[in-house]
Amino acid sequence: MARAAASGAAAESGCVVRLMQAAETQPGDVLAADGYIFATPENLAAIAGVMKDFFDRTYYPVLGRIEGRAYASLICTGSDGENAARQIARIATGWRLKEIAAPLIIRTGAQTPEAILAVKEIGEADLARCAEMGEAMAAGLVMGVF
Ligand SMILES: Cc1cc2nc3c(=O)[nH]c(=O)nc-3n(C[C@H](O)[C@H](O)[C@H](O)COP(=O)(O)O)c2cc1C
Repeated sequence: MARAAASGAAAESGCVVRLMQAAETQPGDVLAADGYIFATPENLAAIAGVMKDFFDRTYYPVLGRIEGRAYASLICTGSDGENAARQIARIATGWRLKEIAAPLIIRTGAQTPEAILAVKEIGEADLARCAEMGEAMAAGLVMGVF
């Protein structure tokens, strides 16, 4: 999903796209970007622990320095996803970011331990929606509409 969003954004000329793992992303990376797409699974009705760690490490170092920048979120879940989306929205509100699209929640339907531990296949139509989000983010940034 994140790769699809990045590809969609990269299709827009004039926009530099960086696809980064939460664990490697530092406050300087957050400051360097004009917009963000946060992508995470929902685990135990929450964003992934590594995503929470990313926000914990970067929240205060960039607070007050990224206000008004664009963001959107991609959530991969078994059946829900609403709470992970809400958590990101709360954090983004604290940062005073501007939501440019509703959270895109892709539900894999995984419910059993076997299904949850299996590698998931995200369908073409859902990947296209992720790519569209990336394209919309990049186009808006390039045109200066956000
Ligand atoms: C520990 C754990 C907790 C989970 N909790 C939720 C949950 O609260 N709500 C939900 O819809 N799916 C939940 N899931 C299912 C995942 O969101 C689902 O497997 C999704 O595909 C995550 O992406 P992944 O395939 O990269 O793990 C959970 C999965 C794990 C491993």
